[in-house]
Amino acid sequence: MRLISEFKDSVKFVIAAISIVLATYFFVIKNTTIPFLLDKIKAQKFYNVFSKYYDLLNPFVYTFDMRKEVVRMLNSKGEDVILELGCGTGYTTEGVILHNKFKILVALDLNKEQLKRAKAKIKHPFVSFVRGDSYYLPFRSFVFDGIITAGMIEYINYPVYFFKEATRVIKNSGTFVIAGPEYKWFSKFGISRFFYTPRIEEMVLFYKNFGYANIQYKLLGPKTYFKTEKYAFSIKGDKYFNENEKELIIIQNANRI
Ligand SMILES: C[S@@+](CC[C@H](N)C(=O)[O-])C[C@H]1O[C@@H](n2cnc3c(N)ncnc32)[C@H](O)[C@@H]1O
Repeated sequence: MRLISEFKDSVKFVIAAISIVLATYFFVIKNTTIPFLLDKIKAQKFYNVFSKYYDLLNPFVYTFDMRKEVVRMLNSKGEDVILELGCGTGYTTEGVILHNKFKILVALDLNKEQLKRAKAKIKHPFVSFVRGDSYYLPFRSFVFDGIITAGMIEYINYPVYFFKEATRVIKNSGTFVIAGPEYKWFSKFGISRFFYTPRIEEMVLFYKNFGYANIQYKLLGPKTYFKTEKYAFSIKGDKYFNENEKELIIIQNANRI
């Protein structure tokens, strides 16, 4: 039984991976010399086309089991106000709704097509969708009890600014969960050239530098013949500000280019 399911998952994984690579090549990489997903305009162009097929392929590379592990790290309570960054078509949003408690969930994405699909799929009285950029969040400071983002870190060219902005809007002691591709597996195939695939150690360092405590992480992935079991990471930390605040500001400024 296990062998059959592993075989099936491997086949699905290959189909999804080939489709994503081909779509990427024909629509975006051709005629470009820079890592395309890090170029906002090209990434948007990619999603304007790829959005139609996203829900069909995504669960093969980011499975329901992986999603369950990621959203559980949020560990939210019934009175919590949650923000999701890069919600896409609402795949992780659905996971948060299924496995978490919350009072309000705000899901943000830059791409119109992706948001259109998310809105059509999710009709929930306490979930709202916002078009916006994770680098410049349209929210006041210290408003969210938790932030979750899955599969968006790979688009982030300036992780320091991204962390700074998320940390601004999260309340003290709020939880910040990030899931994305981990460097080790992706670098083997040279795919890490096309988007940001941080090492897990690098992510831990970001959390530490931005003053998060209780940092925990897991490596996740579908079980296939291609050793993908640990090709993604999910990491969380709780924002911790008090006497260290002054020092943190210095660290953030020091990272500015
Ligand atoms: C791989 S999809 C992930 C979607 C979703 N989180 C999921 O679990 O399937 C990445 C999404 O991030 C969005 N995105 C990329 N850069 C962004 C940014 N700077 N701000 C907000 N969304 C962004 C893209 O438009 C895309 O919908």
